[in-house]
Amino acid sequence: MQKRDRYCFAVLGATGAVGRKMLSTLERRNVPVESVKLLASPRSAGEKVVFRGQDLVVEAVTPDSFEGVDIALFSAGATASQIYAPEAVKRGAVVIDNSSAFRMADDVPLVVPEVNAHALEGHHGIIANPNCSTIQLMVVLNSLRSFGLEHVTVSTYQAVSGMGQKAVDALASEIGAWQAGEANATTIFPVVNQEQHYPMAFNVLPQCDVFLDNGYTKEEMKLVNESRKILELPDLLVSPTAVRVPVLYGHAESVSVRFRQPVTPEVAREMMRKSENLIVVDDPERFEYPHPRMVEGTGETYVGRIRQDLADPNTLLLFVVADNLLKGAAWNAVQIAEALIERAQHV
Ligand code: A2P
Repeated sequence: MQKRDRYCFAVLGATGAVGRKMLSTLERRNVPVESVKLLASPRSAGEKVVFRGQDLVVEAVTPDSFEGVDIALFSAGATASQIYAPEAVKRGAVVIDNSSAFRMADDVPLVVPEVNAHALEGHHGIIANPNCSTIQLMVVLNSLRSFGLEHVTVSTYQAVSGMGQKAVDALASEIGAWQAGEANATTIFPVVNQEQHYPMAFNVLPQCDVFLDNGYTKEEMKLVNESRKILELPDLLVSPTAVRVPVLYGHAESVSVRFRQPVTPEVAREMMRKSENLIVVDDPERFEYPHPRMVEGTGETYVGRIRQDLADPNTLLLFVVADNLLKGAAWNAVQIAEALIERAQHV
């Protein structure tokens, strides 16, 4: 990417839950933006979205939309990424892709800037933004990696906004229908059978994304494979369970980490306090711990409930929370853009 004073951006999926946050994060982090093109499907062409106080008009994406674009932020799903990322790269843009389309490709860096910004070196035009539940886990594990990471067991409590704006609307409608005493299932959450979907309101569903042949869900295997790639620990043991909960914004994770040596909560807390963009909120006497409503709207990762496993001095138990649309998606993508801009200054 060439060095410039200000950069031309495009956001593909600009009308979606993450796309909108990409725009607000560009504003909040004061990124040097020359212009931004808002792209989506033909369904929302002509819609207006405000950026830096100005109404911008959403355009239906075509390959030529990326002409003159320096940095393209993608969050329109894997199919759209497969089609448009190569077209954008052909036209000289660097793509930061929030979908799962390219994450495990050998020549595509998978980046959490606090953890592995070095992986950006020598990219080939596409950089992948990791899965939301992986990103927040990486920020914490990286801060403790000097103790020797051996085995990570993680259960997630994932907000519905991770499934897009339609899931946020569906949960609200299920709750409204329940209050009115009406039938309240929607057609967004996992299917029971061809006619029925599971209710999400007042429920907890141990299924995020589809099941794979090994009995794990796709989301669970993302936690395994993406963690190994980002931490560059191909043999790291990861035992995941991904669960959807009726929360709008913010993923929580109950994490157990076994190290190669005994680690006390005091020492771990000190290490985590020194880590970039990781905030320790851990004072049981004052009832202080992180939770989704607390972190909504922030770009940091939060950790609390730090305890030694009663059965094993080499294992710590943690509770990790982040805003899934921000650190888990848009904020991380914009941080990657900033890291690219920073690198372009020194070429
Ligand atoms: P649109 O609003 O026109 O459907 P979410 O994750 O909140 O559901 O949002 C998905 C985003 O991706 C929306 O902006 C949506 O646009 C966009 N999108 C989905 N499929 C495509 C596609 N095939 N081409 C372009 N944009 C797409």
